[in-house]
Amino acid sequence: MTGVICRRPTVNDNRLQSDPLHAALAPQAAESAATLPAPCYTQAEFARAERENVFARSWQLVARAAQVAAAGDHALAEIAGVPLLIVRGGDGELRALHNVCRHRAGPLAECDGRGAKQLVCRYHGWSYALDGRLLGAPDMGRVKDFEVAAIRLPQARIAAWQGLAFAALDDAAPPFEHWVDGIDAQLGNASPAGHEFDRRASYEVACNWKVYVDNYLEGYHVGCVHPTLAPLLDADRYMTSTARWSSLQSSPLAGSGPYARGEALYWWLFPNTMLNVLPGRLQTNRVVPLGVDRCRVDFDYFYAPEVGAKARLEDQRFSDEVQFEDIAICEAVQRGLASGSYVAGRLNPRHESGLWHFHELLRTAYREAATVRREPG
Ligand code: FES
Ligand SMILES: [Fe+2]
Repeated sequence: MTGVICRRPTVNDNRLQSDPLHAALAPQAAESAATLPAPCYTQAEFARAERENVFARSWQLVARAAQVAAAGDHALAEIAGVPLLIVRGGDGELRALHNVCRHRAGPLAECDGRGAKQLVCRYHGWSYALDGRLLGAPDMGRVKDFEVAAIRLPQARIAAWQGLAFAALDDAAPPFEHWVDGIDAQLGNASPAGHEFDRRASYEVACNWKVYVDNYLEGYHVGCVHPTLAPLLDADRYMTSTARWSSLQSSPLAGSGPYARGEALYWWLFPNTMLNVLPGRLQTNRVVPLGVDRCRVDFDYFYAPEVGAKARLEDQRFSDEVQFEDIAICEAVQRGLASGSYVAGRLNPRHESGLWHFHELLRTAYREAATVRREPG
């Protein structure tokens, strides 16, 4: 399998035509689709292709708007290995600056902060305006051809949406409005902008990031894996719908207590952002690859103001219980994928259309990566 992404085939390459892995990366119809092949979850060349063709070209959740509300407020982020600083300028503009000094690549900020007047590299003290222009460089005044005015920090694209900030490294990422098309109307008041941020919980999981996303994208496993969650959801009316870059799973709530009324809504934004909404509470999740068989999941909890401290704690305890059930099954699946016993399996069209949609987007990205690497030069 090694080199599938990097091989340089010709149009008539018979090996390419007969390669089962390459065949599995061809588009698949929803009714007859299989999962991505196991090597996609275990081999480094797929992780490399994802870094360039998925993460660098997609919109990534990088901050909460409240973290960067006033001039000089800033938050650290990273996309596809590029350190970013999300910073509010004195002009009110939000920017995603590369957090990499133009002198010798030192960091301009090493933690989130408020009200900075400028950004000063801690290595040799070069200073930058909040819009990324170099302002000063100690003892560089008489250096030949050195022009302060010609130097500025590169910027990623940035978008503010529903109290959240997203950034994209590459111009190839579609316009942000396309990314979230249709969600605002369905979201109504259930926005992070109208809720209070409570806390972040992060979990390291010993699985490829896609195993975690796959698991998120279906309710098929709920009855088997989540004995406490299952009775709260209405399995017969659990629905999945897909859009160009997102999907939505929804279920009427059928439980008791705080989960007795309304609906559970689970949005996913390609490739790794989730927005989970229940009455009075919501969460964002971001799944960050840490290696081919490791990822971190950041959960941010938000609540309506009327949800008190006791109810919040109870909600987080319950969420943790479900999360640890998911972590256990995802880590077991990763071991199965890496075992050599399995290549791919059939998807259930009624329950796993969200996975099919995700895998089709990834297949497109892998094919694009292969095409680029085939081109000379
Ligand atoms: S690396 Fe930033 S001032 Fe030298
Ligand atoms: Fe689950």
